[in-house]
Amino acid sequence: MRTIEAIGDLQECLKHYRNQGKTIALVPTMGSLHEAHLQLVDKAKTFADVVIASIFVNPTQFAPREDFDEYPRNPENDQKLLEGRGVDILFLPNIAEIYPANQISDYDVGSIGALLCGVSRPIFFNGVAQVVARFFDIVEPDVAVFGEKDFQQLKIIKQLVERQKRKIEIISLGIVREGDGLAMSTRNKYLSDSERSVAPSFSKILRQAKSNYENGLAQEDIISRAKKSLGDLFELDYFEILDANTLTQITTSSTDVIIVSAVKLGVTRIIDNIVFRRLNV
Ligand code: PAF
Repeated sequence: MRTIEAIGDLQECLKHYRNQGKTIALVPTMGSLHEAHLQLVDKAKTFADVVIASIFVNPTQFAPREDFDEYPRNPENDQKLLEGRGVDILFLPNIAEIYPANQISDYDVGSIGALLCGVSRPIFFNGVAQVVARFFDIVEPDVAVFGEKDFQQLKIIKQLVERQKRKIEIISLGIVREGDGLAMSTRNKYLSDSERSVAPSFSKILRQAKSNYENGLAQEDIISRAKKSLGDLFELDYFEILDANTLTQITTSSTDVIIVSAVKLGVTRIIDNIVFRRLNV
């Protein structure tokens, strides 16, 4: 595996692969990698000849009072993990490389960007769109792979590719969970031991809501029960049951449902979701 910091060196290396007719997959990450990231790499390898993973803790997706400074950084360990998983290139740029002066910084993240996480993190999706578009410009991958834990982010990235008419296939990977059901996340490292023992209740409450939905309980009842259970253990940000394709209210033509929620446990924000086929359609 080659580790490359400069855009010019990366593009030189990519030219070499392209001249050999090889396809390129990009796995963008913010590092401090765990098994879910490595499964993104595994998936990328099934879609392209060459896999580039990037590690960049993107300042523009953190609000001033968020955890940009504390966000875990562990590039040496990440390097070993990526190499072990067969990544071809690790792109490890610094901030000046990604954001030289005069970069476009406003992206239309659409109405989807204003919902759910967009309410409590109003600059987040703009920052994500900005950095992802920048990585797409630099790498011009054939394929890019993202996790489904941040389902809203995935939707916004797909929308960006469509709107900007980019020829990049966006592939997603289902949520990878710990044995007790907690969705893997770099931010789980912030949890204290006692919080870590409470955290799996989050996915349990979402699963209970899904089974209530499938058992035909009225949506308002499912939501009020789930909010009550979540509120007993966590600080609730949102809990919604929506059409998984539009992230708007379910209608008779909805085919897929998403149960999606964000909570805080101490200082740690946790998000999770379950997507499933709507019954009787
Ligand atoms: O999901 C993430 O880790 C980040 O939001 C991403 C897509 C790498 C952009 O910084």
